[in-house]
Amino acid sequence: MIYTICYVSSASHTIQEDELNSLFESTKTLNHLNSITGILLYLEGNFLQILEGEERQLKSLMEKIEMDDRHHNIIIILNKKNKVRIFKEYNSGFSIIKSKSNLADLKTYLYQNNSPYAKPVSRIIEPFLL
Ligand SMILES: Cc1cc2nc3c(=O)[nH]c(=O)nc-3n(C[C@H](O)[C@H](O)[C@H](O)COP(=O)(O)O)c2cc1C
Repeated sequence: MIYTICYVSSASHTIQEDELNSLFESTKTLNHLNSITGILLYLEGNFLQILEGEERQLKSLMEKIEMDDRHHNIIIILNKKNKVRIFKEYNSGFSIIKSKSNLADLKTYLYQNNSPYAKPVSRIIEPFLL
């Protein structure tokens, strides 16, 4: 069993583009090191993150993320055990989605995925495609 957490949040008003890019880089590096798969999506001031990993490790990471002042208004959408990781085969396991074209690629990947939980995840990202 693995654990999945999904949340949306708003970037803090003071966040600058270079700060965002360094957040993306460090997140990608740390997650690859810690075998955490998923996505971090950023569009027009909002984050949506999906994280997959070992339960205890993921919950302690989430506590850190919740205290991070680079974002606020954190709303947890999904917080549950899962049988499989759906992002394991996507962009070496963890990726940053920051353009409409990244998002369209992700949607295609999710539609081709056979996991029963790929469809609910597609629905969660749907509003970002508008
Ligand atoms: C929107 C957002 C998403 C983040 N996602 C991750 C993540 O997936 N993995 C991670 O290690 N840190 C993530 N962070 C950064 C953590 O909050 C924290 O700064 C980082 O893990 C380093 O913590 P440490 O210095 O206490 O080890 C995120 C921060 C923000 C604002």
